[in-house]
Amino acid sequence: MKMKVSTAAVLVLSQTSSALVEGPWSNVNDTPDARAKALVDEMSLDEKLAMLHGPPTGPCCQCKTNASCAYVGNIAANTRLQIPPVNMNDGPQGFRDNNHPDTSTAWPSGLTMAASWDRDALGEWGTGMGKEFYAKGANVQLGPGLCLARVPRNGRNFEYLSGEDPFLGATLVQPVIKGIQSQKVVANAKHYVLNNQETHRNAVIADIDERTRFEMYYPVFKGASDAGVGSVMCSYNKIADHGSGGSSEGQWSCENPITLAHDLKVKTGFKGYVMSDWGATHSTSLMAGLDVEMPSAKYMNPDAINAGLADGSITKPAVDDSVFRILRAMFDVGVMDEPLEAWDWKKQEKNVTTAASVAAVRRLSAASTVLLKNDQQTLPLPQGAKIAVLGFGDVGTITHGGGSGAVTSSYIATPLSGITAAAGAHAKVTFNDGTDIAAAAAAAAAADYAVVFVGTLSHEGGDRASLSLDDGCDPSGGNIGKQCQGNHANQNALVEAVAKANKKTVVVASVPGAVLMPWSGDAAAILTNFLPGQQAGNAIADVLFGAVNPSAKLPLTFPNAENETALTPAQWPGLPDPKSPVYANYTEGLLVGYRYYDAHNISFSTGFPFGHGLSYTSFAYSNLAVAADGKSVTADIKNTGAVAGAEVAQMYLKYPHSAGEPPKVLRGFEKVALAAGETKTATFPLDAQSTSIWDASAHDWAQVHGDFTVLVGSSSRDIRLTKAWTA
Ligand code: BGC
Repeated sequence: MKMKVSTAAVLVLSQTSSALVEGPWSNVNDTPDARAKALVDEMSLDEKLAMLHGPPTGPCCQCKTNASCAYVGNIAANTRLQIPPVNMNDGPQGFRDNNHPDTSTAWPSGLTMAASWDRDALGEWGTGMGKEFYAKGANVQLGPGLCLARVPRNGRNFEYLSGEDPFLGATLVQPVIKGIQSQKVVANAKHYVLNNQETHRNAVIADIDERTRFEMYYPVFKGASDAGVGSVMCSYNKIADHGSGGSSEGQWSCENPITLAHDLKVKTGFKGYVMSDWGATHSTSLMAGLDVEMPSAKYMNPDAINAGLADGSITKPAVDDSVFRILRAMFDVGVMDEPLEAWDWKKQEKNVTTAASVAAVRRLSAASTVLLKNDQQTLPLPQGAKIAVLGFGDVGTITHGGGSGAVTSSYIATPLSGITAAAGAHAKVTFNDGTDIAAAAAAAAAADYAVVFVGTLSHEGGDRASLSLDDGCDPSGGNIGKQCQGNHANQNALVEAVAKANKKTVVVASVPGAVLMPWSGDAAAILTNFLPGQQAGNAIADVLFGAVNPSAKLPLTFPNAENETALTPAQWPGLPDPKSPVYANYTEGLLVGYRYYDAHNISFSTGFPFGHGLSYTSFAYSNLAVAADGKSVTADIKNTGAVAGAEVAQMYLKYPHSAGEPPKVLRGFEKVALAAGETKTATFPLDAQSTSIWDASAHDWAQVHGDFTVLVGSSSRDIRLTKAWTA
């Protein structure tokens, strides 16, 4: 029997599965808006204010003792109305459980998944993670991570699924949100906004103009909002707004009325709630657009809000709106309609990894592995060969990055075990960890093939020291565990020596973002799996031996040289200013990543361009057409090789010069699976947004009319078809 609330307004409904006491909010056929509004109407002011913060006293996070602090973030349950607790947990690539390590799955990282360019794969990833959060009693997943890879050395690029393109991120985030939320877990889009570096992350002022904000840094959050994301996390940094009346001294992201209250909640139409990053609240910022302080209650506590209500600086409708947003998200994804036991903190003890998740990790990681080079069809490897596995192929296998996004999985499939299992009965697989370069080269010389595993790590709280493989293997960055151990400061020399000793050298780079490959001309084949999750070894073996034909593409540029986009210290990591500790000036504007490479005509020698990725088969492009109504572009893609494969066909637009856009911008992509010899038509929808720019004087999108060029191809630098088109 359900309890009834003792107020006249409450109805008793006969049919409900909700954890809540019964009332006008109980009808599952009503909209989340109507249900949330009814519940807000029932709540007392005290009850409302209790929802806007974490625990006011005592430990905040991942305590082992009671419900109020059991998860990474906690909003207390309302016992009168039986509103469930809000149980929030890291992170973007699986459930981080410091108290019960080894009980959840380490999924591939966000950046890895971006490399799949595959909407279905992203949906599967979100659904798979959401299932484990639910099974652990969490109803908010603190992910996905969405920031754009503006700075190649940003220590958190691996967590973010945008790579360096807003269209890619805005497209891929949608199935992730839907997947997570299909499991009755509210997703959290983070870190809003302009949290594009870890150096000085708690002080830096991102100094940026309005057009760049809207065209580069908001679209992925808009994508999340369009997919119905229930919550957004505002970031640690400050933001200075140039040119639209904001503060040039910068305001904290979590109390910024322009970026939060206006740009996110009004302009973007975000209907969920905003929580602060952990410790990123600096004031009682309800009126600026912050709804929930995490992880505690220093500023958004009842006393402070009551004082604001009393002096008129906070309004009651604003309080109601914050509570409404939280409740609406909970109704929308189904949190409210689960029995209360679903959100019992003791469920955290459970081991929630399943054979199905582990199998999914293997599939998703293989689908996200990018084949950068494959001279003389070195890959796939034949069965029964003599293979020298070198480098991080065993102890030290790199699976994920450090910080709040780390997950400790129960086991890791190493490359050595994966390759040994896949190499065939008569194969001879040897191993050398590569720390003794001469010995590794000798092992390579004695084998038919050398497969060198190289890699770097990075972590929250710091940017990488450089893009060199020799500089990044530092397992000290928290929660990184046993990865990347030992002395691996000479990985470039290792690859060079091995490639000299064996012409059939394959390099596999497990990396948290872009790296330099000065030896790329010497290696016969190169793959990157970014941070592939716990099935690293089995997934890479699937690709190496051809059980999976690679179909992934780089979501960001692999430069030829350090700082090739010529970021000055004023751009990154920022310079002090009389008014503030550090300003990072976004003066590159729209010229991030490949846009900069195009604008400066930089060609690729040792690096690889955005969108690049090979297959074991080949593809021909033909018949580029723009529909007469201007609503789509089509092109035929043919598999011209001997095996089945999938191609990510990419559609870029070149705007009329006067629009002030970079030379070309991604506006469509489709992953087309093709049997040998098969042809299919790829369709890239166009809408008003495809041809728009942000007009900072009108503070709105403006559609551009005039002479465009449509470019379709296999990467940003392998354009196969172009066509003039007047929009
Ligand atoms: C990170 C967030 C994370 C939170 C809780 C912060 O330091 O920036 O991404 O969700 O901690 O662990």
